[in-house]
Amino acid sequence: MRRTRERPRSHRATRSSRAIAGGAGGGSDRGPLHGARVVLGVTGGIAAYKAVEVLRLLVDGGAHVVPVLTRAATRFVGTATFSALGSEPCETELFAGASPIPHTRLGQLADVVVVAPATARLVGEYAAGIAADLLGATLLATRAPVVLCPAMHTEMWEHPAVQANLSTLRSRGVHVVGPDTGRLAGGDSGAGRLAAPESIVAAVEAVLAGTGPGAARGRGAAPGARGGQDLSGLEILVTAGGTREPIDPVRFLGNRSSGRQGHALAEVAAERGAAVVLVTASDLAPPAGVVTVSVETAAELADAVLSRSGSADVVVMAAAVADFRPVTASPSKIHKSDGVPEIRLEPTLDVLAELGRRRRPGQVVVGFAAETDHAIERGRAKLAAKGADLVVVNDVTEPGAGFAHETNAVTLLFASGATVEVPLGPKRTIAAAILDAAVALLRERGAGASPSPSSAPATPTSGPTSGPRPQTSPHPGDRGAGDEQGAPR
Ligand code: CTP
Repeated sequence: MRRTRERPRSHRATRSSRAIAGGAGGGSDRGPLHGARVVLGVTGGIAAYKAVEVLRLLVDGGAHVVPVLTRAATRFVGTATFSALGSEPCETELFAGASPIPHTRLGQLADVVVVAPATARLVGEYAAGIAADLLGATLLATRAPVVLCPAMHTEMWEHPAVQANLSTLRSRGVHVVGPDTGRLAGGDSGAGRLAAPESIVAAVEAVLAGTGPGAARGRGAAPGARGGQDLSGLEILVTAGGTREPIDPVRFLGNRSSGRQGHALAEVAAERGAAVVLVTASDLAPPAGVVTVSVETAAELADAVLSRSGSADVVVMAAAVADFRPVTASPSKIHKSDGVPEIRLEPTLDVLAELGRRRRPGQVVVGFAAETDHAIERGRAKLAAKGADLVVVNDVTEPGAGFAHETNAVTLLFASGATVEVPLGPKRTIAAAILDAAVALLRERGAGASPSPSSAPATPTSGPTSGPRPQTSPHPGDRGAGDEQGAPR
């Protein structure tokens, strides 16, 4: 087996050598894992036990896997397990073995380095370029793609330092998988749970096959993307879904929003390098690499948004927030035998209007308006009344737009009076156009991080009538997420 030190980063350059390296697991599958040399880093978190399953799946796929455990990881799992299941004995120390430079050997020979779970400490050290131990040194010594699977408590995951570190790593081409939302250590529940082993292995396969998220970005995931990371350094807060206002423990006042447009916005923004917080009232799975805060009611959404909006560069209110809620919710089920109930309603806080009032200089506030008639007039009225910079109007009665559709068509109304139509397309494409418009506004104000100078999609150049159609060519990875946005009531 012959490998050169300067071999290209792409795994494709290693195909022939992989066949020689062979898969220790003897998997018959000739998929992307077959013969791939994988360094599996495991750090010290409670999710370390799940790395055993990741190891098994990788080996089953035909990969040659070298487990590298940090010292803290060995407090949670035993090296014997990893040595027994791995293709080579588990490595833990920079200086303990026969080789004086194990990290360069591991790093140079790897086709991909996977870290699962990746603790906040590992993320921070890697972002800072600190080679604190064998795994940290291997990460710096490799030119292979790196897949990081963070897992930590919600508070740590949401910490701006952790998000900034991940943003830095993403901007360097590191693939970040998860975390999921669910049960955490100590009986807590929330964002920060290690992605499922199957999802991690699928992501590794995609990276090896050249179709991973980074590869997709490289193909120009979104209009205006520069190397796919044109939103790097920006903090974007997105809301999604329809809030539910309880009437009693089994009934609520709701709306038809699914949250797909908002989730698509969060997903695309994260892929383009932004640090994204998604406040969602939707049951959709949280997008990868996004801090997701689940809410149910308009009041919960208002709290979650207003407590986080201060530091955001862009806030996008795609949620369908209830305008009214029952004054009181019955603590027990209302029964027919009680007679026809009279439900008194009271108004909720208009979060978008509040954001407009609180907006700090440079911040961009984007609202939505899902309308059934006089869409543009109503959208303009909302833009003015709520003090937004941009309102995304969609006429939900138009074919292919609005509820229960995989596609959408919107008109962007700018406070300057300009109008941009975004033609019918997958919701990810619509999301990209909205983000481009927000970035263009940020740039006009000289705020934000480093938006691409070539990102000139939906920059409003026209007057109050329809302006130029932005270049919104569909992205190969578009999933065409579902229905509406705005507040359909
Ligand atoms: N919105 C909000 N808080 C509310 C209601 C709406 O922040 N309590 C936001 C929505 O997220 C959306 C925008 O305001 O970005 C417009 O919502 P929409 O329902 O279309 O307008 P409303 O102001 O509620 O007016 P109406 O329902 O009468 O059309």
